[in-house]
Amino acid sequence: MQYACKEQPSSLGSVDEFDQNWQERKEAKYNHWVRGSVQNQVQLAFRNHWTLFKKILEGRSVRNCLEVGGGRGSLSSYFADHGVNCTLLDTSASILETAEQIFKANGHTASYIEGNAMDMPFEDNSFDVVASIGLLEHFEDIKTPIHEQIRVLRPGGTFFGYIVPERPDNVQKNYNWINKVLKFFANTLTSTENKPPPKTDIFRSDFGSERYLPVLEGQPVENIEVCGMYPLPMVSHSPEFPFSLLPKPLEWLLARIFSFVLWCRKIIFAKCLYQGHPWTCKEEFGQAFLLTFTKK
Ligand SMILES: C[S@@+](CC[C@H](N)C(=O)[O-])C[C@H]1O[C@@H](n2cnc3c(N)ncnc32)[C@H](O)[C@@H]1O
Repeated sequence: MQYACKEQPSSLGSVDEFDQNWQERKEAKYNHWVRGSVQNQVQLAFRNHWTLFKKILEGRSVRNCLEVGGGRGSLSSYFADHGVNCTLLDTSASILETAEQIFKANGHTASYIEGNAMDMPFEDNSFDVVASIGLLEHFEDIKTPIHEQIRVLRPGGTFFGYIVPERPDNVQKNYNWINKVLKFFANTLTSTENKPPPKTDIFRSDFGSERYLPVLEGQPVENIEVCGMYPLPMVSHSPEFPFSLLPKPLEWLLARIFSFVLWCRKIIFAKCLYQGHPWTCKEEFGQAFLLTFTKK
């Protein structure tokens, strides 16, 4: 593993809390990349992130990709599988080791860099794609990490910010009762000695795109687009980060049901979906939203 650390600025982005979760929780080992049909809700989500991003990237040259706050590199796995040179940057050495194991097991390669999104150890204009998936909502200061990602993006390169704000009124709101019932059964059926350590609390902002767009003013970017993403509920007995999966047959069934819902969305809403993709929706409705642009 290659570690190229600069002097770290003050720790932001719930760095310690993430690291603790990555070290203690079995969920850290989940492999969210799969080549064939998806087997669970998270694989379904990453598959759809990827097919949307691939559509946006059509006709653009992509030789290398940086995932900032890469974690297990689930999105990067798709890029790596398509022959793109991937770099994962994360503050957690523990999750970078896990990512390396997952990449090896999947037959992929990448560079694994321990570093901070606030001050990354890369030259200006280095990457064709810079992506942060589930990172920016963990910062109160979004300006520094966004400007830093623009700095390392090459002119003509594409930025993807997949942002999951704290938003109690999105698609999830009608399904929280299901998760409460599942949580009750999971707690009742798990004996005290088998209970996993509690998940650490992670800071999450409620900033929508209206807080992100002003940060781009004066920056060398164009073709700025925002759309809602993930128009489905997450069904889990433990839906907080890191998302816990249900038993395999249930996950398999949910993945099939949700795939069918997406197929229906594509047919019914084809004309009003961003890029015609059923994983997109109104920003307020989705679990997340996408901020994408190219560098001038
Ligand atoms: C919600 S996880 C997302 C991981 C991965 N992108 C994914 O899609 O599964 C956020 C990741 O950002 C990392 N992180 C948090 N603050 C960071 C910072 N200041 N610099 C770099 N990585 C950071 C965490 O360690 C964690 O792995």
